[in-house]
Amino acid sequence: MFRIVNKKELNSAVTLLEIEAPFVAKKAKAGQFIIFRVDEFSERVPLTIADYDREKGTVTIIFQKVGLSTKLLAAKEVGDSIRDFVGPLGVATNKDIIILEDEMSAVSDNYYLMTDDGTKGEKGFVTDKLKSLIEAGNQYDAVIAIGPIPMMKFVSKTTEPYGIPTTVSMSPIMIDGTGMCGGCRVTVGGEIKFACVDGPDFDGHQVDFDELMNRNSVYKKEEAELTEKHICRMDKMAHDLIH
Ligand code: FES
Repeated sequence: MFRIVNKKELNSAVTLLEIEAPFVAKKAKAGQFIIFRVDEFSERVPLTIADYDREKGTVTIIFQKVGLSTKLLAAKEVGDSIRDFVGPLGVATNKDIIILEDEMSAVSDNYYLMTDDGTKGEKGFVTDKLKSLIEAGNQYDAVIAIGPIPMMKFVSKTTEPYGIPTTVSMSPIMIDGTGMCGGCRVTVGGEIKFACVDGPDFDGHQVDFDELMNRNSVYKKEEAELTEKHICRMDKMAHDLIH
């Protein structure tokens, strides 16, 4: 079991958890991920390692509540435990990304926040801002896109005509995380790759995003039914407690 030692609700949809996992923390490197299971009946879900503390033996994950498992995970509190926390998995990036203080102020000076509805920052997609910055003559050596698959697809499409190297982080369905089951396969440059052992980072200009979106939607119906059942169960428990 893996104990939660810190929890922050970053907004209504995104949660940060720091989890006690000394063996994972000991070996974790930037770009790697873990697979968690909330309990023995849960599905296995991959999440990027956001941070780690080798001395404390903890690993930090940041995730959006999009399916039943991430909703169950976000409902856990400090002191609670989860069943599995396996990792570190995947190929690490060459080195950890460390932003020095003066670089940090440069980063924050050039920080743009976009929201679909304009409730924070500017209204529009990240691709709108990216395109306008490139067209304004800004030079970029590389673009890194991490997030929903459609976003990564269109970021890659935006940078391709300008020849800007673009790295995307894949999060397909994963089961074993060791290259054995084939669940996480993605087509990159016409070749089959396994995101768990060959990735999760790939050249965005080479990824077949449409195939990936199709594969990722295979269990949508089952997931919606499970979420519905879970909500009904929770409602019944709340009703029984009150009456
Ligand atoms: Fe099974 Fe990658 S998760 S092969």
